[in-house]
Amino acid sequence: MATEDACKVHSLRGKVALITGASSGIGAGTCVLFAKLGALLALNGRDVENLNKVAQQCKDCGAAEPLLVPGELTDEDTVKTTVDKTIAHFGRLDVLVNSAGILAMGSIETTDLAQYDKIMNVNVRSVFHLTHLCVPHLIKTKGCIVNVSSVNGQRSFPNVLAYCVSKSAIDQFTRCIALELAPKQVRANSVCPGVIITEVHKRAGLDEEQYAKFLAKSKETHALGRPGEVDEVAQAIAFLASDAASFITGVNLPIDGGRHAMCPR
Ligand SMILES: NC(=O)c1ccc[n+]([C@@H]2O[C@H](COP(=O)([O-])OP(=O)(O)OC[C@H]3O[C@@H](n4cnc5c(N)ncnc54)[C@H](OP(=O)(O)O)[C@@H]3O)[C@@H](O)[C@H]2O)c1
Repeated sequence: MATEDACKVHSLRGKVALITGASSGIGAGTCVLFAKLGALLALNGRDVENLNKVAQQCKDCGAAEPLLVPGELTDEDTVKTTVDKTIAHFGRLDVLVNSAGILAMGSIETTDLAQYDKIMNVNVRSVFHLTHLCVPHLIKTKGCIVNVSSVNGQRSFPNVLAYCVSKSAIDQFTRCIALELAPKQVRANSVCPGVIITEVHKRAGLDEEQYAKFLAKSKETHALGRPGEVDEVAQAIAFLASDAASFITGVNLPIDGGRHAMCPR
């Protein structure tokens, strides 16, 4: 048996994948890996310039021209258009990767309702809506869903309250839809990254100096002694989306260098 046949992650070849957060970080890295594996891609993000750069990187890996479906995912019409255009273009959907998300600092004393609503709308409501619209298509193909959650969904950290709540919701959402869709042979899992080097923390307000300190501290807060790289999450997403994970559903998989297992002592 050829190595490519033995390693079932290669089952992604020819599969149609809709990936959100495709313009940056984990979503962008997932696009490039899926492109290398021969998947056909529909990319959502808001920054069209970045989305074009990621599409070019995918083509440089030999992938077919990705479909760009840019737009704001809290906008209900955009979500509907994203799905409609993907199906109109490819005629099917095999994989949905929900990677778009935002982080913000704030505690029960400092998080106002506007910040709470913003985080929940992007990180949970839009994921619910997009998944809801994709599920009929995924049932047809016996496809699968991979949500990008966080160690913050499994463990509790002060001063990122709304974010932690949003990621716990995604973990529960993943398990519930996994049970609902299992009879239809659609799998749903989430990856739960620890600190991964992307734009998300700086976008949440850390300046360069604070970010450097945060990454340095990640050497202590992650058992493996370092923050993670985008590709380490993308590899896990590809695994869960592929036939290599054909008997795995309802899992919230830590990709966090052991952080979820750590306790202060
Ligand atoms: N990096 C980490 O340490 C880490 C750890 C655990 C979990 N995560 C999760 O990983 C996922 C990806 O984050 P990342 O680290 O890759 O961050 P990132 O580099 O900031 O990328 C975030 C992506 O989400 C998109 N996005 C944000 N809000 C959106 C909206 N309202 N509508 C449409 N797209 C939107 C962004 O699009 P534009 O740039 O085009 O606006 C971008 O493509 C998030 O769900 C995050 O919570 C990250």
